[in-house]
Amino acid sequence: MSAVAAIDVGGLALPNPVMVASGCGGTGRELHVFGPVGDLGAFVTRSISVAARAGGPSPRIVETPSGLVNAIGLQNPGLDHFLATELPWLVQQGARVVVSVVGRSLGEYAELARRLGRSPGVAGIEVNLSVPDAVGFGVLDVREPFHAASVVAAVRRDVPRDLPVLAKVRPDLARAAESARTALDAGASAVVVGNALPAAMPDGRPGGLSGPAIRPLALRCVAEVAAALPDAPLIGAGGIADADDVRSFLAAGAVAVQVGTALLHDPTTAARLVADLASTATTQEQP
Ligand SMILES: Cc1cc2nc3c(=O)[nH]c(=O)nc-3n(C[C@H](O)[C@H](O)[C@H](O)COP(=O)(O)O)c2cc1C
Repeated sequence: MSAVAAIDVGGLALPNPVMVASGCGGTGRELHVFGPVGDLGAFVTRSISVAARAGGPSPRIVETPSGLVNAIGLQNPGLDHFLATELPWLVQQGARVVVSVVGRSLGEYAELARRLGRSPGVAGIEVNLSVPDAVGFGVLDVREPFHAASVVAAVRRDVPRDLPVLAKVRPDLARAAESARTALDAGASAVVVGNALPAAMPDGRPGGLSGPAIRPLALRCVAEVAAALPDAPLIGAGGIADADDVRSFLAAGAVAVQVGTALLHDPTTAARLVADLASTATTQEQP
């Protein structure tokens, strides 16, 4: 279907560079109604923890000018349920499944890695090192790059050598390059530059700001990380909504991108980006 080039990012082979960002494609079934999840570069699951998490109280999402603030609170069904029901369905659809993980301790990260690493159909593990409010959400606080590195090392140690481990760092200009370097040194195969930025809900609860509002910041972070680490496999995320946005991130040094908030406005966005990139590639190939 697509004339857009297949890529490899840190050993993760993708038919195209458009991935679904963690937490923004539901279980995959919700998105699949609007286009086959198997046609996308990869599907990143919401962050999965060892035990199920109920998430925060509502409202959990509010609109802001040019974006959203979410306080979902890492709601997820827990590892057992994910492995029994969500993963097999995604694999059956031919999706390249990257499982995002979050934990309360290094031991939990190791357990997630051990069990996911031997589960058929897991194409990669993405370590969520950029939760907008780790302390409030009750997960390990990895704001300091050396803490994040311990988590990456704990995950890396417990998965097969050839399974890609992606480190998802915050688009924080002051720390992004340092965070990316530390994660790679600790064994990450690739770095995702971009997560919702720490923000507040109107009632003052901590949340994460995402969407077009953060795109210029995320783009700058990708460019700075790429300049500091020219050989690092980078995936960009933050407010991507059309093919021009994708091109900007690729030009800044990313090899692939993740699309999140745009899917909540229009669930066909990721499929449309793949088609738009493919049609541009085809046009350019014509004499
Ligand atoms: C409703 C919602 C839920 C999210 N859940 C997660 C999550 O579970 N784990 C994670 O790493 N990122 C999560 N994110 C962050 C996105 O994956 C993405 O990194 C971020 O929103 C920036 O991209 P965007 O501007 O395209 O949304 C969530 C974002 C939103 C809007």
